[in-house]
Amino acid sequence: MFEHLTAQKPDGILMLMQMYREDTRTDKVDLGVGVYKDASGNTPVMRAIKAAEHKLWETQDTKTYVGLAGAPDFNDAMVKLVLGDAVPRTSVHSVATPGGTGAVRQAFELTRMSNPEARVFVSNPTWPNHLSILDYLGMEKVMYRYFDDETRGVDFDGMIADLKTAKKGDLILLHGCCHNPTGANLTGPQWDAVIEVLHDTGATPMIDIAYQGFGDGLDADAAATRAVAAAVPECLIAASCSKNFGIYRERTGILMLVANGTDKAVAQGTLNFLNRQNYSFPPDHGARLVTMILNDDALRADWMAELEEMRTGMLTLREQLAKELETRSGSNRFGFLAEHRGMFSRLGASSDLVEKMRTDSGIYMVGDSRMNIAGLNAQTVPILADAIVKAGA
Ligand code: LMR
Repeated sequence: MFEHLTAQKPDGILMLMQMYREDTRTDKVDLGVGVYKDASGNTPVMRAIKAAEHKLWETQDTKTYVGLAGAPDFNDAMVKLVLGDAVPRTSVHSVATPGGTGAVRQAFELTRMSNPEARVFVSNPTWPNHLSILDYLGMEKVMYRYFDDETRGVDFDGMIADLKTAKKGDLILLHGCCHNPTGANLTGPQWDAVIEVLHDTGATPMIDIAYQGFGDGLDADAAATRAVAAAVPECLIAASCSKNFGIYRERTGILMLVANGTDKAVAQGTLNFLNRQNYSFPPDHGARLVTMILNDDALRADWMAELEEMRTGMLTLREQLAKELETRSGSNRFGFLAEHRGMFSRLGASSDLVEKMRTDSGIYMVGDSRMNIAGLNAQTVPILADAIVKAGA
């Protein structure tokens, strides 16, 4: 039967990773997959993670299963990290998931179970895997305007106009912070306007928050998620620990469900059921480390300090790049790079130019001209600026 299989469309981000590995040039620059890199190009294990792993190795005396929903203390710590005191803890149902992607997948499945006709509103553009998973699940997508190619900011009027066409029973997927792939984000008052649309339409928001701490700080980055969760009767939140704890391969994430109109046992039971069907117990190693860090004052302080170094480092690179481009291009049309937040910025170059920069200068960015800012360092910023100007982007 397997002879009937057909080739799947390759994932653009993962394909680029492969191409970069195969390129033998020594001065190539990897701005592809969303992985943080330090100034030497390494993705370090964070200090607090190392310390927690050491402690765990010494103290853990069993690897038996934890609960289907994950370890309760992980879920508590993550709900607190993301939602703060925005909603009572008893209103939040949650399951640990394999990474943020696991949470996204479960959120979509839960939506489909609740309403097979649900349309899912996604920003244009969004993380390509959002679209791919929705297609795989056979769910209807509606793209809402988001990125303004002219300003390289948010096309807010277009976004609101499109969101107004949603209705009760639809899901609106929003990026909590650090929009992937554009780096363009909503302001506080703009989030208030989105909340108003959520009230008016009755559509259910889903927030994907994968980069908390990479934009304006841990609390600032969660502010919109908290505001939405506090304002609506029900919402879904998919959070990832891959980036802000640097534990990509441990697959650590959480899906939270606020469903005030739903029987609590049914809400939690359905989340548990979905875990059981898809992978049974969620992975625990990364979740355990995160819990140890969040619940230990010293480890938490050290984690926050290192995360802050990463965040400010990316901001410095943004400013340096915008400046170098201003000098070379004699215009401030790249000023948006310093305004964007998070790991990514969409340059706004055509796919031909992206390819040209790869061929001529060894610059690897995603085909839609998404750049991973953390892939730069003080030495490669001028190389990138040269390549952008040379390509005429
Ligand atoms: C990215 O957008 O590059 C990351 O979220 C990694 C991935 O899985 O695509």
